[in-house]
Amino acid sequence: MKSVLSSVVCRLSSVYMKGIILAGGTATRLFPLTATTSKQLLPIYDRQMIFYPLNLLVKAGIKEILVIVAPDFSGQYLNLLGSIFERTDIRLEFKVQTVPRGLADAFIVGEDFIDDDNVTMILGDNIFEDDLSREIKSFKSGSKVFAKKVQDPERFGVVKFDDNMKAEIIEEKPKKWISDYALTGLYVYDNRVIQASKEVKPSDRGEIEITELHNWYLDKDELEVAMVEGVWLDAGTFDALLDAGNIVKEKKLNENFDPRINQAIHEFNKELKALAKKRL
Ligand code: DAU
Repeated sequence: MKSVLSSVVCRLSSVYMKGIILAGGTATRLFPLTATTSKQLLPIYDRQMIFYPLNLLVKAGIKEILVIVAPDFSGQYLNLLGSIFERTDIRLEFKVQTVPRGLADAFIVGEDFIDDDNVTMILGDNIFEDDLSREIKSFKSGSKVFAKKVQDPERFGVVKFDDNMKAEIIEEKPKKWISDYALTGLYVYDNRVIQASKEVKPSDRGEIEITELHNWYLDKDELEVAMVEGVWLDAGTFDALLDAGNIVKEKKLNENFDPRINQAIHEFNKELKALAKKRL
């Protein structure tokens, strides 16, 4: 009864937050690994990549999470995550993105799921050492994005700050250097993001870019940029994938999981082992 009441109270508050993990795309940079499975199901040390972004959302207190996947591997996601959280208060939903139309498409694909709420989206291949729960929990309205100083800003969406460290320009993979601050794959938005995404026109590479959403909020002076401490990994290439596994092991990031996720993985492994024994 108490938990039902607290969830009603929470839902009535103006800042109810839902989560999206974007785990679709074609991941051509990781062929042939991604010919047989989804990038976000590849291993990072002792668990599938997707558990890392999932952990970040769960640690931030988000309980309703939509996992957006590509059509080819949707069954694999269901096998792994379909019933793993049955005995917890975490609820996962799944949706197929039929065509990888761009990052902002997540809010169109996820429109019914988001409903009238706010939303935090994380890319399924992003791993953060930093615990960003306070930043997510303190979100009120507008948008909040997360920046990190990098050596190869041309690979990312980039933010240029003015002298007061206020975001001035945001550009996707700038050809000409504007700043060393990359925008990571974690984004918090109020409910207007659905409408904003519908207004975004496809870029030259034919995608509806997340950068356009940032600019939509920046133009209204409603974009906040928080800094990320510690390592941030985007495991989208062979080297980055290898580095991610080693860094996770070295920094013991796999030991820093929410107990509900650890327990769910543990029970899933136990069931798999019991099944394997039966088949012998
Ligand atoms: O990792 C941070 C960077 O992520 C940001 O700095 C950039 O602003 C942002 O555009 C994005 O850049 P990427 O080049 O890494 O985007 P990519 O196309 O690789 O997509 C990121 C993830 O989202 C990837 O795991 C696949 C998934 N995805 C991508 C697209 C375009 C989807 O699920 N659906 C899509 O339509």
